Amino acid sequence: MTWSRTHPTRWLDDAWARRGRERRHVQIVTGGARVDIVIGAGIVDTLAGALPVGWRRAVVVTEPGIPPLRAWDGPTIVVPRGEKAKRLRVVEQVAEQLVKLGVSRADGIVAYGGGVVCDLAGFVAATFHRGIGVVNVPTSLLAMVDAGVGGKTGVNLPSGKNLVGAFWQPELVLIDLDLLSTLPARQWRSGLGETVKYSFLGLESLLSLPLDEAVVRSVELKASIVARDERESGERALLNYGHTVGHALEAVAIAQRRRLTHGEAVATGLVAEAQLAYQLGRIDRDRVIYHRDLVRGVGLSSTLPPWAATSDLLEYLQRDKKHRTSLASVLDGPRGLELVEDIPLEHVRRALEEARRL
Ligand code: GLY
Repeated sequence: MTWSRTHPTRWLDDAWARRGRERRHVQIVTGGARVDIVIGAGIVDTLAGALPVGWRRAVVVTEPGIPPLRAWDGPTIVVPRGEKAKRLRVVEQVAEQLVKLGVSRADGIVAYGGGVVCDLAGFVAATFHRGIGVVNVPTSLLAMVDAGVGGKTGVNLPSGKNLVGAFWQPELVLIDLDLLSTLPARQWRSGLGETVKYSFLGLESLLSLPLDEAVVRSVELKASIVARDERESGERALLNYGHTVGHALEAVAIAQRRRLTHGEAVATGLVAEAQLAYQLGRIDRDRVIYHRDLVRGVGLSSTLPPWAATSDLLEYLQRDKKHRTSLASVLDGPRGLELVEDIPLEHVRRALEEARRL
């Protein structure tokens, strides 16, 4: 049984014991920044000493329900748990608290939490006093391999996800794999949903690697793409594989007050988008089944939930005026993943229907 088919609690102990709990380093050098990413076990306890040299002091922004930050007794702001924290009202509340704490441009924020905390705290850092430093300490698998790395920050609007945001690179990312041992099973699987996409970006054997190696390789891959295309003018868009349908699914879930994690939505989106690629003649049926089996293999659902009607999903997909009659999406194909423009909505409708029968 590999780590991807089970929760890693026991696996982590064994793996780190075998490997001597070494640390791995990845760096992203972009036009304007150098980001150090350190991956290891127990490194969260080194946080205070690892903060950037120029910072006068730091404020931790975190969420309830995650392991306490033992090595921290400085100021801490706790934001609500889950997607509901990703909104402008919470940005304002956090910023007001920073003002009360006397935070200035010489100070920085530590984002300690899952993807929501990294997105939200990063956006506050990008905008507070026109930009202060941020260090990410992601606590979920999803945030370790995606949200905590790459400098995309932002919040949602009632009309859609991540519609207000900024590119703002963290100065440092500390990825402590020990934190995964307490991750609730559903959050663990959600992270796998996001991780699976790297299998289509050149890391075919990702899920058969040891967990620590899989995280390192995912982070290295994302870092290399971000270094080449920080502002998503081309290649970085490939990291959104599964997200066209995934985001529509999340929007429908929010409208109906259904519980659906980001990774669950992306996993289902990957399969629906594979079906779309098949209908456009870009891949064969076996490749669609490969997508389906990979998603199922990590314990996630590969089919669209019955509550997400095709018409509701299409309505969300069409919300952008540019996409009244056609759509753009990252799709698989003979040359691998590519951004495909002008996909007729009728194909999308059929793909969504067919994906229910896979
Ligand atoms: N989550 C996709 C990206 O960072 O570009």
